[in-house]
Amino acid sequence: MEKKDILVTGDRPTGNLHLGHYVGTLENRIKLQDQFDCFFLIADLHMLTTHNERVDELRLNIESLVIDWISVGLDPNNSCFYLQSLVPEINELTLLLSMICSVPRVQRIPTLKEKTSQLGDNENYSVGLLSYPILMSADILIFNAKKVPVGEDQLSHVELARELSRRFNSLYGYTITEPEPLISEFSRLVGIDGKSKMSKSLNNCIYLIDNQEEVNKKVMKMFTDPNRTSPDIPGKVEGNPVFIYHDIFNQNKAEVDEFKERYKKGKIGDVEVKKSLAKNINVFLEPIRERRSQLKKNRSEIFDIIIDGSTRARKLAKENIDRIKDSMKINFKEI
Ligand code: TRP
Repeated sequence: MEKKDILVTGDRPTGNLHLGHYVGTLENRIKLQDQFDCFFLIADLHMLTTHNERVDELRLNIESLVIDWISVGLDPNNSCFYLQSLVPEINELTLLLSMICSVPRVQRIPTLKEKTSQLGDNENYSVGLLSYPILMSADILIFNAKKVPVGEDQLSHVELARELSRRFNSLYGYTITEPEPLISEFSRLVGIDGKSKMSKSLNNCIYLIDNQEEVNKKVMKMFTDPNRTSPDIPGKVEGNPVFIYHDIFNQNKAEVDEFKERYKKGKIGDVEVKKSLAKNINVFLEPIRERRSQLKKNRSEIFDIIIDGSTRARKLAKENIDRIKDSMKINFKEI
């Protein structure tokens, strides 16, 4: 069988996935899963870097994440779904990489800077959080991944992984593949508030698990052109979240064009445009909901999938960490 290049990406199990995740990364993964040997990571250790108290919900969040993945079309028979904590070689590599990564280098990473400035100088700023990007580099480098599809916000982490692979190889001889990021077309989907990126903490999301009524309600209160107090006022289409979503979720492009024309001329009300959008989002979510309800009937299978995937991932991780330790001359074997 022809050997495919390895792709690694993943999510933290912090709750349900939303449309922003779908357009930002899931859609890309679905397209790429036949082309690459894919390793999809459930980053439970990463979740602990910011939510170390929320351990009771972990198991359920891990299950929901995998159910979300399968229901959108990721295939565990084709790709490897694995749990970070079940592949301890990742931690071993994190420690080794931390020896060749300076503290100021990680402190300069924008996402980390943002997070730590929110936390201030307090006791919640853990060593684990500081080394978040090194752990993420280990997730990627342990499998010699060639491609890493991520949202734009994760780009600086992948850049660190690239740098660490180069530093490792120049210090110890060529051992680790230098990964490349892959950014999707709509890497930042605006939330229904029209202000910021769709994000759980901002309460501006449409979730993949939302039912028809929830979608209808959320779309109806979605931010549009604020200057349009009545339907006969010409409206703005560019940057208007309702049209951004139409462009993505309404397959009838002629209808979208017509809505835009009428909107710009003040010849259509927001309600009509929104009703059509809600219908189209529901059409998109319906097959996902159906698959989810099937999967929920066999909850125990979800963990079997995770165990199988992690076992396969661990086999490769073991081979690679051995090679890495060989090049560092710290592979002292037991007798
Ligand atoms: N940091 C990523 C996020 O918050 C999740 C993640 C952890 C990841 N390890 C990874 C993504 C490795 C890609 C590759 O979304």
